[in-house]
Amino acid sequence: MSLSEKTIHELTRYGRRKLGDHAKSPSGYPLIDNPELEVDILLGYVLEKPRSYLLAHPQHEVTLPEFKHFEKLIEQRASGCPIAYITGEKEFWSLPLQVTSDTLIPRPETELLVEKTLDFIQTITKPVIADLGTGSGAIAIAVAHECRQAQVIAIDNSLAALTISQQNANRLNVNNCWFINSHWCDSLKSESLDLLVSNPPYVANDDPHWQQTDIRFEPRSALLAGHAGMDAINYLIKHAKRVLKPGACILIEHGYDQQAQVKAAFSAQSYHNIKGFKDFSGIDRVCIAHK
Ligand SMILES: C[S@@+](CC[C@H](N)C(=O)[O-])C[C@H]1O[C@@H](n2cnc3c(N)ncnc32)[C@H](O)[C@@H]1O
Repeated sequence: MSLSEKTIHELTRYGRRKLGDHAKSPSGYPLIDNPELEVDILLGYVLEKPRSYLLAHPQHEVTLPEFKHFEKLIEQRASGCPIAYITGEKEFWSLPLQVTSDTLIPRPETELLVEKTLDFIQTITKPVIADLGTGSGAIAIAVAHECRQAQVIAIDNSLAALTISQQNANRLNVNNCWFINSHWCDSLKSESLDLLVSNPPYVANDDPHWQQTDIRFEPRSALLAGHAGMDAINYLIKHAKRVLKPGACILIEHGYDQQAQVKAAFSAQSYHNIKGFKDFSGIDRVCIAHK
């Protein structure tokens, strides 16, 4: 981009051209669904202005440092780096969460876990809940924010992810959430939980998709779960029974083609009331069972 291109209008055109060229990977996977929106997010981030300002002030002239900063971010995005890692933020359950390359970027479909958790705990006084594999803290913080009388234990085996989730809770003034570095539920007391919720890794190690999309920028330890992508889910289903109170509930997010396997794993461990749910796109996404 030449130094003469300095207005919002010109930067926007430049960004769209650059990101438009990278809208699909060589194998045809969509990389950048909406270049127009992403350019506006990046330019708004650089200028610290809302999108409405960009639309209303196309002739606003940017400074040279702003221009260089924007150019660098567009290059990063064109190379595939997810926009949330560039801006360091992702909204989940209407809460702005800090994310880094140490945390998975929370997905909108995971809000289904929050919804089902809130449904289940509404009749319980001071429910004790654990979010296993908390990452940025998305599920734990959303539940703790929504239900202030709940005690939420957020667990991850990544210390780097826990640092971020703890910071997110502090910034959002969520005080009913505790962060623990542990291998799944191993550090929890027996029969201590009213509900266990988890969005564990569930991608098969040799799944070709994740290497060909922006997902490749996310931590492998947050995504991959063995040959069939079921290692973490199977571990959780087997070991959760020890930490759940009688009648307590477990909710697990899974891959689009794993619901039958997850239900079978629950049955094999003698859980009851096993149900599957679809996400807002109509894709099998969550299984719930009771001890
Ligand atoms: C798919 S990510 C989910 C992150 C977050 N809950 C969300 O929904 O955005 C899975 C998380 O599980 C964590 N994890 C992987 N193996 C683990 C283990 N053995 N014990 C605890 N957490 C683990 C990863 O570090 C990662 O943060």
